[in-house]
Amino acid sequence: MSSKPDIFTPLSPVQKDQFLEDYLAHLRRRDGEPDVANRRFSVREQFFREFEEHPVRRSGPLVVDPAVFRRNEQKYHPEVGVDEVTLWALAVAKTNRAERDGVDYALARIDTEKMSDRDPYTYILIEEFYHTRVLKDALSVLGLEMRDLPPPRTTQFLTHSLFYFPKPISHLMVLCAEIVGATGFRLLADKTHELFADQPESLTRIDELFQQILVDEVGHVHYARSQLGPARLKIAEKMLPFVGRYLLRDIPEFELLFGRQKMMESVLQADVDSAVAQYADRFTPIYR
Ligand SMILES: [Fe+2]
Ligand SMILES: [Fe+2]
Repeated sequence: MSSKPDIFTPLSPVQKDQFLEDYLAHLRRRDGEPDVANRRFSVREQFFREFEEHPVRRSGPLVVDPAVFRRNEQKYHPEVGVDEVTLWALAVAKTNRAERDGVDYALARIDTEKMSDRDPYTYILIEEFYHTRVLKDALSVLGLEMRDLPPPRTTQFLTHSLFYFPKPISHLMVLCAEIVGATGFRLLADKTHELFADQPESLTRIDELFQQILVDEVGHVHYARSQLGPARLKIAEKMLPFVGRYLLRDIPEFELLFGRQKMMESVLQADVDSAVAQYADRFTPIYR
């Protein structure tokens, strides 16, 4: 049996059509009506309103010093000696910067009036805005305030260039980047159980927030895959280690938390469905 990750197995035209139909139905159920101008979804707003009305904060002394967090949030490399929980908070703050920046760049340059609610891409763009909000909410449980900072220049160059690449090429890069993103979020979500188990209520809140992101990101991976044929999926598979190293280099906190080998092994497994297996609202394509 081949050890090739499923995500690089091409879909037949029938499977592609079926995927698009199922994925759109999932997005509509999950997100509700997309409001592109305000970058919002009807259903998702309700979810966040509920969270805002019932905020959860860790009790007792802060586990991350806000001054250390604020200082390091804008540094490429964290200061020497920063503890694990601070590294976790910094990784959380930095993880969605590239995606959000890329989406901001794209939305400023496309005619949003022409965006259709029949196109998964419309939902995917808006979901990325929610991810930044989700990460802010997760850090607020620790009493931290995350700022909207841009990604490092090298990543920004890549995300902005993607906008001008022909679709066949940009989808290749996007598939790899989404796999790296889903892997990173899964590792961060798992780490919360080590770091915050002492206060179950706040752990549950952080967990629920990560669930929002992970379910979305795994959907993005499947969508990017559906846009590629056999030849380009083969190239994407070959590119994954390079894209993984490139993106992870920009968030050194990941390597400090998990080690380079574990990070890259997880990325290359590309087992995105396992990353959401525990969530009832996940999207798992069923191909007949
Ligand atoms: Fe994201
Ligand atoms: Fe994504």
